[in-house]
Amino acid sequence: MRTSRDAPTRRIRAAVVGTGAIAAGSHLPALAALAAEGGLEVVAAVDVDTGAVQRFCADGGVPHGYTDLGRMLAEQRPDLVCICTPPTLHREQTVAALRAGAWVWCEKPPVPSLADFDAVEAEEGQEDDGGPYASIVFQHRFGSGARHVRRLIADGALGRPLVAHCQTTWYRDAAYYAVPWRGRWDTEGGGPAMGHGIHQTDLLLDLLGPWSEVRAMAGRLVHDVQTEDVSTALVRFGGGALATVVNSVLSPDEVSRIRIDCERATVELTHLYGHGNDNWRITPAPGVPAGEAAAWRDFGPDVPSSHLAQLRELVASMRAGQRPRSSGADGRTSLELVTALYKSAFTDTTVRAGDIGPGDPFYTALHGGAPGWAPAPATYEEASA
Ligand SMILES: NC(=O)c1ccc[n+]([C@@H]2O[C@H](COP(=O)([O-])OP(=O)(O)OC[C@H]3O[C@@H](n4cnc5c(N)ncnc54)[C@H](O)[C@@H]3O)[C@@H](O)[C@H]2O)c1
Repeated sequence: MRTSRDAPTRRIRAAVVGTGAIAAGSHLPALAALAAEGGLEVVAAVDVDTGAVQRFCADGGVPHGYTDLGRMLAEQRPDLVCICTPPTLHREQTVAALRAGAWVWCEKPPVPSLADFDAVEAEEGQEDDGGPYASIVFQHRFGSGARHVRRLIADGALGRPLVAHCQTTWYRDAAYYAVPWRGRWDTEGGGPAMGHGIHQTDLLLDLLGPWSEVRAMAGRLVHDVQTEDVSTALVRFGGGALATVVNSVLSPDEVSRIRIDCERATVELTHLYGHGNDNWRITPAPGVPAGEAAAWRDFGPDVPSSHLAQLRELVASMRAGQRPRSSGADGRTSLELVTALYKSAFTDTTVRAGDIGPGDPFYTALHGGAPGWAPAPATYEEASA
């Protein structure tokens, strides 16, 4: 049973679950930065790999290591749990933490399906009871660049958004896919549309607002995988803008890019795994006064997109007892678009926002059981091996 707790005014007690690459490389440094400012302490870490959790605790000065999440939650009663495990564990671990009264910051991709997302949301606090809430790590939305451009678009300064390109064209070699859990629906969750491109897709939605329909294609062109290794999609937005979304893991010249042509300016973001002010470019349309364009290009002090930038906002939401960004409907929107992209590609149809709900095979599995894409049923020998 979830036990709702008051928003902490004291130091926030944080715990990390899954002590692999992203936990050590991004979560611990972000948590340490806030700890150094005095607002938070990291009280525990959990991993099924005893050696991994011991190393993590020793390197990060974390006092308590566990191999069992339930035990950690009962003994440490953390206020915030950072979930850094593989995607198929996100649902059960997020629910366990919410039921223990902790807020959750869960790595992307959020959960394997919309059904899983809705099950998690049902465990959160109501809108007005102060949580606990579960927020997804979408760090590319945060930092000074995204904040500045979001405001310019939302305020109408750049005019109506008209056409956009959203690109995550990366390169992953055969050795990358030789790791057994990669390229499989049940363990990786999806191909580049889900695992790699969801950051850019999420940022595009954060900047442009709700999407209304999608038509997509997917292919397996290079890698021996169950999922796709490339997809392209056409997306219409509620405000009328049209966008292309391209995700691949077979592009030698790697780039993450968003370009939005508005009536009064083109905004471009070009980077790979994270961005600062210098990664953004704003080109005014003819006739825009030079002074106005110069003001648009003033992004203010540079706060790069990062786990720290998002965590800082999340902790502020905790202290205010308010639903954080990237949780609930705001955290679900990119998963819904990715799900619709797969359904469109695998069924050769146009999919509209809100179409995929209980009873739809794509609601519970991103491959939707589609012939040629869903995993083949296990043979008797495999099932009994
Ligand atoms: N936000 C980003 O930019 C970003 C970047 C890389 C990875 N990620 C995401 O972070 C998550 C983890 O990725 P990673 O690269 O750190 O993986 P990893 O394999 O390096 O680490 C995962 C850890 O989870 C542990 N683990 C497995 N089962 C567990 C369980 N039941 N309980 C506790 N621990 C368990 C493993 O032992 C391992 O130490 C994934 O969802 C991935 O997509 C996000």
